Amino acid sequence: MTKPSVLIARAVFPEVVDRLAAHFDVEANQADDIWAQHEFINRLQGKAGVFVTTSERVDEALLAQCPDLKICASMAVGYNNLDLDAMTRHGVLGTNAPDVLTETTADFGFALLMATARRVTESEHYLRAGRWTKWSYDLFAGAEIHGSTLGIIGMGRIGQGIAKRGAHGFGMNVIYHNRSRLSPELEAECKACYVSKEDLLGQADHVVLVLPYSPAAHHTIGTAELALMKPTATLVNVARGGIVDDKALADALRDKVIAAAGLDVYEGEPQVHSDLLTVPNVVLTPHIASATVPTRLAMANLAVDNLIAFFTEDRAVTPLNPTVLAAARKD
Ligand code: GLV
Repeated sequence: MTKPSVLIARAVFPEVVDRLAAHFDVEANQADDIWAQHEFINRLQGKAGVFVTTSERVDEALLAQCPDLKICASMAVGYNNLDLDAMTRHGVLGTNAPDVLTETTADFGFALLMATARRVTESEHYLRAGRWTKWSYDLFAGAEIHGSTLGIIGMGRIGQGIAKRGAHGFGMNVIYHNRSRLSPELEAECKACYVSKEDLLGQADHVVLVLPYSPAAHHTIGTAELALMKPTATLVNVARGGIVDDKALADALRDKVIAAAGLDVYEGEPQVHSDLLTVPNVVLTPHIASATVPTRLAMANLAVDNLIAFFTEDRAVTPLNPTVLAAARKD
């Protein structure tokens, strides 16, 4: 029996390639070339499955040109790069990688918050540049973390993880805004109070963004929202590029509308708005919130689990559009 053909679109752990190769006829991009969309489409010809990350775009135009494709398994939790409606129309299953990265990403959200509020990278650059000649009482004085008010926009699993770290670890007063309110039990577990977005922006000392990207979430934070924040506040984005208007944020940081920002994701990444690179009061990291070896391995293995379950048992572990599976069973 011939094995289904699977494309691995980006370099991944060798053991993950080996696991896939035991089940499938695999083409792996271990050179980690960044393919133009037409090359990605060419490589997908005759492939029944594809393993993707956040950087590949699976849309109507691609699907129309890849009639053999049956499943697209992403090793990311966020899936704004996959057009699920188009995938459903074309009978292509999408899967993502939730849960396995929750705690690691929440750790990083907190790390970025602390680095930003306590001016860790800014002060390190100053020291490395040989500019530290004397101690002074206000040298890199930052914002308090413990006992301050933490505002979380997007209270899914990662947002809840950040809330628990803030409330239980640092005695923070946690407020949140989300599309839907959490159950009273979850609110009690996170010690978090639901507020409107405007109240959150006005009250929080630290605002952390953890909401999924969708067209409705585009520029959730722009000039008007930044103006609602305290001038002493920090803003952290570990969600997706496009949720913050990066140009408006750079202007607000330069004009001290808010005190500081910590960003792990950007509009148009891996490009970063040039204005952000010139303001000192921003901590910039290259989309690494889930980047520990055990977590990235777990994410990749979950994508493999989905591919194997789909081709061997006609099911998936974490399907995004499960109606495709039900429809395939009826055929
Ligand atoms: C990373 O950004 C992910 O969505 O997993």
